[in-house]
Amino acid sequence: MMFYCPPPLTQAALGVFVVLYLTSLHTQAQENAQLQIPPSLVECYNDSHFMNRDNRLPANIETFINLIEKVENSYAFNQDIRQLAVSLLHRFRQDGIQRAPGVMRTVGVLPFSPTGFQFPKFRILLSRLIPGDAMRFPNDTLTREERCSLHFMLSSSVDMQMRGDEHQVCNKLAQYRAQRLPRSAQHKPKNSFVGDVETIDNFKFNGSKRKTSHIRTNAKDQEYDFGWAETDFGVSHDNDISHCPVENGVIHTDWGTVATGTLVAGIAAGLQPQTVQLKTLLALASRRPGSGQSLPQTATVNVDNRWAATLAGDLAEVALIQMPMTGSDTASIGADGAWNSTVMPRWYFLSQRHNVEMTDAEIRGGLDGLIIAMNIANWRTQAPNLKLSQLLRMYYSMDRVLGSNIMACNRKENFPIYAPLNIMTAQTSAFAQVLDREIQLKVTLTPEAIAQFSTGASNSLTSYIPLMDRRLDCLKPSEDIFTRTSILTDLYIFLDTAWSYQIVENYVNYVVQRMNIRPYGSSVTLLTASGASLLANQSYSIIDFFKQWNFETHSQAAKPGFSLPTILSKATELTHGLFEIESKRNSLGLRSLIMLLMPSPLAYVNEHDFDYCQRYLDFLYRTKPDINFIYYSGGVLVRFKSYVKDPRTDLFLLDSERDVEVSSLPVVQRIKNEPRRITSPCSMHFNGSRHHQQQVKQYLPLGFVNFYKIAANNFFTPGYMRYIKIKALSRTAFVICTSRRNSWPYRNTISSSPSTEQECLQVSNNVFSYDLTDLCLSYQIKHECPPLFLSIQAQAFADSSQIMCEEEECLSLQQTQFLLITNNLDCSNQGQQLLKSIELILVITFLTIKNLYK
Ligand SMILES: *[C@@H]1O[C@H](CO)[C@@H](O)[C@H](O)[C@H]1NC(C)=O
Ligand SMILES: *[C@@H]1O[C@H](CO)[C@@H](O)[C@H](O)[C@H]1NC(C)=O
Ligand SMILES: *[C@@H]1O[C@H](CO)[C@@H](O)[C@H](O)[C@H]1NC(C)=O
Ligand SMILES: *[C@@H]1O[C@H](CO)[C@@H](O)[C@H](O)[C@H]1NC(C)=O
Ligand SMILES: *[C@@H]1O[C@H](CO)[C@@H](O)[C@H](O)[C@H]1NC(C)=O
Ligand SMILES: *[C@@H]1O[C@H](CO)[C@@H](O)[C@H](O)[C@H]1NC(C)=O
Repeated sequence: MMFYCPPPLTQAALGVFVVLYLTSLHTQAQENAQLQIPPSLVECYNDSHFMNRDNRLPANIETFINLIEKVENSYAFNQDIRQLAVSLLHRFRQDGIQRAPGVMRTVGVLPFSPTGFQFPKFRILLSRLIPGDAMRFPNDTLTREERCSLHFMLSSSVDMQMRGDEHQVCNKLAQYRAQRLPRSAQHKPKNSFVGDVETIDNFKFNGSKRKTSHIRTNAKDQEYDFGWAETDFGVSHDNDISHCPVENGVIHTDWGTVATGTLVAGIAAGLQPQTVQLKTLLALASRRPGSGQSLPQTATVNVDNRWAATLAGDLAEVALIQMPMTGSDTASIGADGAWNSTVMPRWYFLSQRHNVEMTDAEIRGGLDGLIIAMNIANWRTQAPNLKLSQLLRMYYSMDRVLGSNIMACNRKENFPIYAPLNIMTAQTSAFAQVLDREIQLKVTLTPEAIAQFSTGASNSLTSYIPLMDRRLDCLKPSEDIFTRTSILTDLYIFLDTAWSYQIVENYVNYVVQRMNIRPYGSSVTLLTASGASLLANQSYSIIDFFKQWNFETHSQAAKPGFSLPTILSKATELTHGLFEIESKRNSLGLRSLIMLLMPSPLAYVNEHDFDYCQRYLDFLYRTKPDINFIYYSGGVLVRFKSYVKDPRTDLFLLDSERDVEVSSLPVVQRIKNEPRRITSPCSMHFNGSRHHQQQVKQYLPLGFVNFYKIAANNFFTPGYMRYIKIKALSRTAFVICTSRRNSWPYRNTISSSPSTEQECLQVSNNVFSYDLTDLCLSYQIKHECPPLFLSIQAQAFADSSQIMCEEEECLSLQQTQFLLITNNLDCSNQGQQLLKSIELILVITFLTIKNLYK
């Protein structure tokens, strides 16, 4: 059964067909459109587990994309973007779910039901405008936690009930918002943050933004009740309504909080667009007024599901629920809100308790959904295998979707292009007529009044959007080269569990979320700093990391504390394991190797261990020059200065009194600055001879650069035919720079003074080759011979067809590709055997010294 059918002539006919087909046969498959919690979602409500939001995954766009990607990459999954978008809605979204106040959860009684005003619109969408079902959704690819997290992210509702924390939370919303740094400040050195953050104290809640705009003209607007009877929220007095209600079904993105269900509905509608005759929809409505009623002129257009699923749907709610109560012809559009944590976002508080029919998050979600819906058919002809995760990743980044000018940060510029006022008014007016017959209002409205309110609501939205999100503009291209490089690392964190989970959670997660953890990306492993036992096993999925490390596992961990000797020995063991796997796979590594140590303010290195640790580190750096120890510590940093390569770059203060970003961003930048490691795997063929050549495909977005480092032990002893080669695979040019002294050689297009310490060359069809044979001739000792630094920079612009990347390894659809080839790297001195014996000696000395002091 295919509904995707773009030619406009057939659409009306198809619409009728769809509607009739659905109502006759298909309704029982659409569980979520029924007036109860459907059986498939009972698992999210049947016990109190998920009512505790700490048991849900963090509500942000990264988690959402990762969940979708997990489904897309699951075994035997063969649905396209349309099927997935539609089944996500039908399987997981149900709007308007409210808790019945004062009712206990007992056998046979779930105190939840979709009684909120958001439900009727949702029901029309699912049953009449975005037909489909969840029959083929691969439920087992996700765990219960993942399924329920998806449900809560996609399902719109507002918890109006008093929680009891209002006095602590509600007056802090402006402060929470201010904690988000302006995007342009993101990559400045750490000092510039101080000013930004200290302004928080002076930043007092400055009232609603609408006081300065001219949209809200009605002075009574704080006094009237909800159009949708407030008893349906289960609260009968204004006093029982929270001053900062919690909005559900929204996710945090760098470009503002977005209503996820609206976004996905827009995408799904764009993938199976329908224009259904108003007559047909009205005929199907549950309430049919007498035949005497005729529709006004403006309400005679056909309903476009792309509009109904996005802006027109929410505007219709404003027109019906809010506007009749004010008697005004302007509407109060928008409701701003704030998360109380943006690292692990779980609670999103609205800063107003009235007029929440169309919140800021819904406006953004609706706008994003509509813009994508209007373009997606075109994008699919360019990229027929486009995946939902890829689309979202391109849209919610600075990557732009397939070279267009379309991305989240541009939504305000795109608003007038894709949402012209006349169409918006007509679509709102038409859909509001349909919604009016499905929703129980306190008032009874004539079609003329509905049309008039719809016009008012559309006008108000058009004046509101330009005033929104003034601080969320697109990033200006930065001169900082590290904004155009991505992290690829094997990160091992040794965490002192003397840090309480509540304090350290955000500091760790802030860093981990920025490490590019994903399949074919970086990995993260979390261990205790006392006994080096696992808190979270090595993982290439941020979701798996969240699931493994939480309040419970942290508190249950073995004794708190910090033992550097144990950490060093574990780091050696882990590095061995890593190199062994690489040797088996004949892999060059290509991820940096970072040991991030997180001692508590009280932790220190025992004086007796000083010599041992010094010698161990010295040895480790000689045999494994790629290993990096970085401290992210509480208390006085200087106590660890003897245990790092460079105290100026490798010691970071975790100041739990200060904002997470202020402390953690420098750590992220330090890890980002570490070039990717190229290490000879020295692996064997089955027949016992050594592999001489390695080659690996690398991916690079346009305008981006990859930095690599090859340590001298890969080319120290004389060797024959030892070289590294770069061969372009895309039909694009690459600039390749090399240096022995500058860790980050690259051709700077902005400043023209060429550095003398580096050489750069452009390749397109030709192959770049660098001879590694004689690099250490003038050095007697291996660790005195400097490494080779190498960078590969992709050209900044290209036709999107030149760089289409459809392999699983590609992070986005548009990445340039090249081959990295090494030949006959030095294997004489990997130190593997040597290390084992020296380690033994060290351990023995360590034990002896320990015993001496006993
Ligand atoms: C709720 O449902 C889940 C999944 O079906 C089940 O594992 C759990 O035991 C149920 N809880 C209760 C209290 O019935
Ligand atoms: C997944 O769950 C939904 C809702 O219960 C069900 O309709 C669907 O058939 C299930 N999918 C599969 C493949 O069984
Ligand atoms: C509050 O708003 C007024 C007028 O809109 C403005 O002049 C003032 O600077 C604002 N105060 C703060 C603390 O932002
Ligand atoms: C956010 O607010 C909720 C509700 O008051 C609270 O339970 C939670 O601990 C808060 N989280 C943070 C990080 O402050
Ligand atoms: C950790 O993961 C590795 C594979 O990635 C596995 O071999 C090992 O058994 C896991 N360890 C634990 C304790 O789960
Ligand atoms: C082992 O296999 C490799 C690759 O197949 C081949 O190049 C090499 O000559 C073989 N060596 C011996 C000793 O057979």
